[in-house]
Amino acid sequence: MTLPPLFTPIALRGVTARNRIALSPMCQYCATDGLADDWHLVHLGKFAQGGAGIVFVEATAVEARGRITYGDLGLWSDAHAGPLARIARFLAAHGALPAIQLAHAGRKASMQRPWQGNGALTEADQAGGERAWPVVAASAVPLDEGWLVPEALDAPGLATVRAAWRDATLRAAAAGFAVLEVHSAHGYLLHSFLSPLANRRNDAYGGDLAGRMRFPLEVVETVRAAWPADRPLFVRISSVDGLDGGWTLEDSVAYARELKARGVDVVDCSSGGLAGSATAGRAAPRGLGFQVPYAARIRADAGIATMAVGLILEPAQADAIVASGQADIVAIGRELMNQPNWPVHAARALGLPDRGFGEWPQQYGWWLERRERQLDRIWSESSAGG
Ligand SMILES: Cc1cc2nc3c(=O)[nH]c(=O)nc-3n(C[C@H](O)[C@H](O)[C@H](O)COP(=O)(O)O)c2cc1C
Repeated sequence: MTLPPLFTPIALRGVTARNRIALSPMCQYCATDGLADDWHLVHLGKFAQGGAGIVFVEATAVEARGRITYGDLGLWSDAHAGPLARIARFLAAHGALPAIQLAHAGRKASMQRPWQGNGALTEADQAGGERAWPVVAASAVPLDEGWLVPEALDAPGLATVRAAWRDATLRAAAAGFAVLEVHSAHGYLLHSFLSPLANRRNDAYGGDLAGRMRFPLEVVETVRAAWPADRPLFVRISSVDGLDGGWTLEDSVAYARELKARGVDVVDCSSGGLAGSATAGRAAPRGLGFQVPYAARIRADAGIATMAVGLILEPAQADAIVASGQADIVAIGRELMNQPNWPVHAARALGLPDRGFGEWPQQYGWWLERRERQLDRIWSESSAGG
């Protein structure tokens, strides 16, 4: 049988994902001092057990001041690498490519966790021990009224941030991750350089598109140089700001071409987040697979592999995205949170011969495959009898 496109393995440089399903990076907001703990192991491990081809560790800060909240993961010291290496080992042992998204929150750092208000840290938070910290960005333009005014990074500041990306990349490689993604979306530091609404610089890092892309591309070059040549590099972008005068899809195509020229393998096509939450934002009308057309356009016009994301819920929907050449990989966030075994159930829905159970760890698959045959008998007997 020809495998459904969603279940066709994909080779990326020296590694191969067993299928086209990726767990999208999702902050858990429960780390202490940036360190991963048992929550992160069990949370991420479920998705490897459930059959995903690639499992992304959430946005992991390259600098302590680049965390969104006090609960974010980090990789700004060697001490952070140990617990992440344990997670990478577990993911790989269960057949998934261990992947990590490195990030710097820029002017969206120093925030409350979503369930604490999702705004800038306040005096009330400070009374509870979570003090706001100084934030940096492309320009001294706050996200909105009531938000911290960031310090615009000067030349030594840019060099410090580049070095932090390099060091975190080296640690991620040593920790055993097979895929690395640079977070250049959702209003965080690199996006604040790209978008004309957040970048008001009049030096070489601002102005026209080439100037605004300069620092994110320098970071990507730094990361690519530090990341092993046989491991793939992804970059997540906000394909559009969805705001008047903001970043456009044409800009994204131009950016994707530059990323490709610097050895990026996959562009992960999200949207929004420059002036609020990317998940709840208004960058694009929300509907099932609303960001897929961005992945399709960037793939066609920049000639680079893409990952589609956003309200992808159904196996047939995900399979059609790959089959139609709109994207090479499908990232799923909340639906995997809802159903960690989604890939196994999708395999069954798409008619894989052993209904996907053969792909599962024996601890589960051996039993369920036999139960399935038993159920087939029960149902055929009951329909013959009835
Ligand atoms: C709890 C939560 C945390 C998230 N954290 C991140 C993150 O760390 N990095 C990122 O790029 N996107 C993050 N996102 C966005 C998701 O990766 C994904 O793009 C978004 O949820 C849309 O996909 P979905 O409809 O399949 O959930 C987060 C979303 C949620 C719901």
